[in-house]
Amino acid sequence: MAIEPFDVVDLIRIKRDRGVLNTAQIRWMIDAYTRGYIADEQMSAMTMAIFLNGMERTEIRDLTLAMIDSGERLKFDGLSKRTTDKHSTGGVGDKITLPLAPLVASFGVAVPQLSGRGLGHTGGTLDKLESIPGWRASLTNEDFYSQLEDVGAVVCAAGSGLAPADGKLYSLRDITGTVESIPLIASSIMSKKIAEGTAALVLDVKFGSGAFLQDPARGLELAETMVQLGTDAGVATTALLTNMNVPLGYAIGNANEVRESLEVLAGGGPSDIVELTLALAREMLALAGQPDADVESALQDGRAMDTWRRMISAQGGDPDATLPVARETLVVRATHSGVLVEQQALPFGVAAWRLGAGRARKQDPVHHAAGIDLHAKPGDAVTAGQPLFTMSTDEPERFERALQAVVGAYRIGNVGDEVLTGGPLIAGRIG
Ligand code: URA
Repeated sequence: MAIEPFDVVDLIRIKRDRGVLNTAQIRWMIDAYTRGYIADEQMSAMTMAIFLNGMERTEIRDLTLAMIDSGERLKFDGLSKRTTDKHSTGGVGDKITLPLAPLVASFGVAVPQLSGRGLGHTGGTLDKLESIPGWRASLTNEDFYSQLEDVGAVVCAAGSGLAPADGKLYSLRDITGTVESIPLIASSIMSKKIAEGTAALVLDVKFGSGAFLQDPARGLELAETMVQLGTDAGVATTALLTNMNVPLGYAIGNANEVRESLEVLAGGGPSDIVELTLALAREMLALAGQPDADVESALQDGRAMDTWRRMISAQGGDPDATLPVARETLVVRATHSGVLVEQQALPFGVAAWRLGAGRARKQDPVHHAAGIDLHAKPGDAVTAGQPLFTMSTDEPERFERALQAVVGAYRIGNVGDEVLTGGPLIAGRIG
C-alpha cells in the first residue's frame, strides 16, 4: 500500500487554527478525498474550518486547480469559432441563459453552456428547458462539438467527468451548512468553468435576498476572486455584479420561464430581463473580439430567435410545441389600492419550489408547469382586488405551504413611499 504523504487531521488542525495550507497539501487533500481515502466526516470538518476562517488567494487557486485536475478538461482547438460562456451564481426567475446563449451564438461565436439542475429555491437551466417536449439535456461528445460548430449554442448537462471532486464536495457542503463560503463557491464554480474549456467567461455574480451571498460587498469579493481565478488560468474573464433582491422578470418556475424567454427572443419581454441579457451579451461578445456587436438588433430582427429554434431542434425539442400548463391555479389579489413597494426574491423562490418547480433532493423530479407568475413589480400602482400573482401547480395541497412562504414578502404602500429594490439591477463590473 502506498504511503500517504500527509495526515488529514493535521491539515484540519491547520485550517481550524487559521493557518495556510500549501500547494502539495491541497493537491493531496482533493485527490485523497476524490478516491475515498479521506472520509466525509473529515472533509466536513475541513469545509467548516474553511467556512469559518476563510482561505488565502493562493489556497483558493490551488483548490481550484486541484479540482480541475480531478477530471477531464475539454478542448475546442478544432472548432472554427471562438468560445465564450456565461455563468450565473443563481437567482430567482433567472432565465437569462435561455435568450442569451442563442443571441450571442447568432454573432458566429460558440457558447458551450454546460449547465446544472436546480437545487433548493434557485432554478436550474436544464429543468427549464426540459419543459419543452422532446428536448434532451444529455449529448454525446460528438453531438456537442458538431452542434457548437453548426448552431453555435449548446445548453446541455455537464458530464460527471468535469471536476468530479467538486461534485462530491458540493453534495457534502449542501448537507453540512457550508455552501455560503467565498473560497468554496469560487473554487467550485471556476473549477467547472475552466475544465469546460471556454476561452472567455462572463460571470453574473448575484447579491441580495435571492442570492447565496446577500451582502453586496461579499458579492463583490466573490466576483473579484472568480475573475482572478479565471484570468490566472488563461480564461478571459469579467463579471457583472447584479441585484437579486427582487425576482427577475415576471415568471418563476420552468415552463413559464421558457414562455417569458420566448417573449424576449421575439423582441419584447420584461425590461429587467432584456437589460441583463443585453449587458451580458455585450460582455461575452467583447471578450470574443466583437466589442461593437449590435445585440439589440439581433433580438429585434429575429436572428436570436432563429438560433434558438435551431438550438432546441438540434437537441430533439419541438420549438413550436405547446408548453405544459398546470391543472390548478390560485390568484392572490391586492387587499387595498396603493403602490407595490416590496417583493422579496427569496420567499417567492421558496414558494415556487414548494409548488413543485424545484427539487428538495437531487433525485426528485420537478413539475414543469408549477410556478408563480407575477402580475406587478415593485413601483407599480395597484388597485384593490387586482391580481398580484398567480400560483400554479398540479397538486393543490401544495398551495398552503407556498402561501406561507410569501407571508410578509410583499407590501402595498402609499404613493411616495420608498420602493425597496436594493438599488439598480447592475451594480458593478469587474475585469
Ligand atoms: N454553484 C456551484 O457550482 N458551486 C457553489 O459552490 C455554489 C453555486
